[in-house]
Amino acid sequence: MRFGYFDDRNREYVITQPDTPLPWINYLGNQDFFGIISNTAGGYCFYKDARLRRLTRYRYNNVPMDSGGRYLYLRDDVSGAYWSPTWQPTQTQLDEYQCCHGLGYTKISSEFLGIRTSLSYFIPLDDNLEVWLLEVKNSRPTKVILSVFSCVEFCLWDAQDDATNFQRNLSTGEVEVENGIIYHKTEYRERRNHFAYFACSEPLSGFETQRESFLGPYRGWDVPLSVENGHLNNSIAHGWSPIGSHHIKLTLAPGGSSQVVFILGYHENSADHKFNPPESQTINKESLEPILAAYLDPAHAITSLSDLQQYWEARLRTFQIASPDVHTNRMVNTWNAYQVMTTYNISRSASYYESGIGRGIGFRDSNQDLLGFVHLIPIKARQRILDLSATQLENGGAYHQYQPMTKRGNDAVGSNFNDDPLWLVLGTAAYIKETGDWSILDERIVFNNLPGSEVSLLEHLHRSLQYTLIRLGPHSLPLIGHADWNDCLNLNTFSEMPGESFQTATHRDGTVAESVFIAGLFVLAVKEMVDLLQNCGSVDKISLYQDAADKMIRTIYTHGWDGSWFLRAYDNYGVKIGSQDCEEGKIFIEPQGICVLAGLGIENGMAARALKSVNMLLATQHGLVLQQPAFSHYYLNLGEISSYPPGYKENAGVFCHTNPWIMIAETMIGNGDQAFDYYTRINPSAREAISEIHRCEPYVYAQMIAGKDAPSFGEAKNSWLTGTAAWNYVAITQFILGIRPSHAGLTIQPVIPKDWMEFQAVRIFRGVEYHIRVIRHGPGNIVQLQVNGQSIPGITVPIPPADIHLVQVEAILT
Ligand code: BGC
Ligand code: NOJ
Repeated sequence: MRFGYFDDRNREYVITQPDTPLPWINYLGNQDFFGIISNTAGGYCFYKDARLRRLTRYRYNNVPMDSGGRYLYLRDDVSGAYWSPTWQPTQTQLDEYQCCHGLGYTKISSEFLGIRTSLSYFIPLDDNLEVWLLEVKNSRPTKVILSVFSCVEFCLWDAQDDATNFQRNLSTGEVEVENGIIYHKTEYRERRNHFAYFACSEPLSGFETQRESFLGPYRGWDVPLSVENGHLNNSIAHGWSPIGSHHIKLTLAPGGSSQVVFILGYHENSADHKFNPPESQTINKESLEPILAAYLDPAHAITSLSDLQQYWEARLRTFQIASPDVHTNRMVNTWNAYQVMTTYNISRSASYYESGIGRGIGFRDSNQDLLGFVHLIPIKARQRILDLSATQLENGGAYHQYQPMTKRGNDAVGSNFNDDPLWLVLGTAAYIKETGDWSILDERIVFNNLPGSEVSLLEHLHRSLQYTLIRLGPHSLPLIGHADWNDCLNLNTFSEMPGESFQTATHRDGTVAESVFIAGLFVLAVKEMVDLLQNCGSVDKISLYQDAADKMIRTIYTHGWDGSWFLRAYDNYGVKIGSQDCEEGKIFIEPQGICVLAGLGIENGMAARALKSVNMLLATQHGLVLQQPAFSHYYLNLGEISSYPPGYKENAGVFCHTNPWIMIAETMIGNGDQAFDYYTRINPSAREAISEIHRCEPYVYAQMIAGKDAPSFGEAKNSWLTGTAAWNYVAITQFILGIRPSHAGLTIQPVIPKDWMEFQAVRIFRGVEYHIRVIRHGPGNIVQLQVNGQSIPGITVPIPPADIHLVQVEAILT
């Protein structure tokens, strides 16, 4: 069952009924100011940090779900009937409803009682504000007198404090209203130099800034007393819960229409220009005035929306394809790239499933996100690599995440995840392959934000590898530390205390438990590093690393192979995990993926064997589950993984992030049919037809789909912010379609299904546009390249001379 459809030409998903199984979310914002918005206008916005600079309230895990948003109420002032044109919060049965989630904007249109509205929400490219562009049209044969009420509820900036410290914050709220503009200025009197504002392009008939005055006692957002009465009380909030609500009146002749703009924004003043007059407590609005004047003009608002659309077109042009599969085309051309950009911007901080309070920019997460994102805006990826490495510790270790406002490593969410540092090598290598910008390796960067500790980025990468090399365990495999990629495989935690954080607690010294996953990742990172060192002429450590990687490979073959698949780990007692010998958790997906990606077992048949085991034991119609058999109870020596009921999350859910590793591995053994089959099983667009089972948005990947052990098998959860986005993008574009950047040029090595006779792609790479046509002449994966009509040896199209900007490539597969 579907709840909408893809409009591929406009790059929109069109939702046709408001009560989707879960709120179907979109993101607004590109630089510093962001918002999440649901298909019924729920959600909130923030400047840089969803915890510390949150403008509006959102009630997570509340009922009715998706509570708090960018709400409007329309009221027929003759009959007194009122409704929400976005369905929430009144939930009036609308005569027509449609929500188009587009790239960086959401447009909700509806009709009720002969009144058509269309409401576009977006954050313009370069300003810290949301625009709500409302168009109201009277389709009745008679004149209509309407009231329009807006409403947002302000968050007192620190979302954690706002939700907990009531004894203080019910007394701190302050607002100003000047020329119809509502200013939220809680704590501006003291150490905040920022305030929020909510403005409207039309003259006001009234306003409200005190929540209780707007709603009336004991009422909810669905039945606000002021709206019911048809007028606002011009309340000024002193403490309690400041809101912003405007009241405007529209009289529309039959067929008549009107445009209204609302803007909700964030603004900072310098510390010495906070007040005007300076000795007063009144906000100095001087520097804000030009912004207000510009955006309150509907023509400017419309232009900035089209600028935003052009911006996205320009980004997406970097890689466009025409393949025989519609699901592949729309994910690659639009939605997967868009999701990758969003995960890169927001990391794992603010979504419908992440409160924006607990987590910042992940070290491991960002490095993986940029594998899929780097070609969209390389310069931003460059900055992220520098920011991440500035939080690296001198011993090569990493904080698990840093805070977006301060860019400092955050100890509160733990460190000691021993895979973390290695991802920096992969992220940096991907950046250089995409851009050819070797200068990044010479950038001098601090450790742990400490001035004076600067070394080159290249030295940071050396430290990352050394970190693994000096942390080897009894089998000479890498020690796992707090956990590896699987945050929930906590082999040193041994937590017995209810509620203790699995992500930070460690009750063992960590000298025994080892990870085969990190071993595979190390081999992969060494490959990338050796490639970097060879290309940049810094050869002295090459043989050291090659020897270490060879040794690691031998170790994996000896101590990390279980007969039919790669082992997962050794626990704190030196006992195997992910082995035939185990009763539960006999086989894990991660080492099968990462070891094959690192090239292990390709020559000696182990890779094919491991992948066959994956197929037999982990594959389901909804994707590949993380491990089997699921853990039926809590294991003290395994940690959080066994805290989840069977089939959910890391305990045998389809943890989608890992699936593309297997897709890539399948391409590495030449199996395009299998790779594409796995790709399709979790492709959100391909699952659209079963939206009543999948339940999450059909246009973006979710972190998890409940596995076969779960009662809700097939149900997705935790959509949007997941490494799944980047890895699936890499799997389909670089390994199945096979178009991937390398240091020497653009490599073309498709491993596509046997029944694909042809596909085409346009890829902009290092300033050159490549028009690529792949044609199948035989059933295999052998590639013969023709560049501008000339056959060339090998699978890499060399970088053309500087004056060439267009290259035609034909790849014949036999
Ligand atoms: C989740 C993991 C996540 C970790 C860190 C755990 O509860 O299961 O998927 O990586 O928290 O936030
Ligand atoms: C989600 C985290 O963001 C990611 O870093 C981790 O690798 C996976 N969960 C698996 O635990």
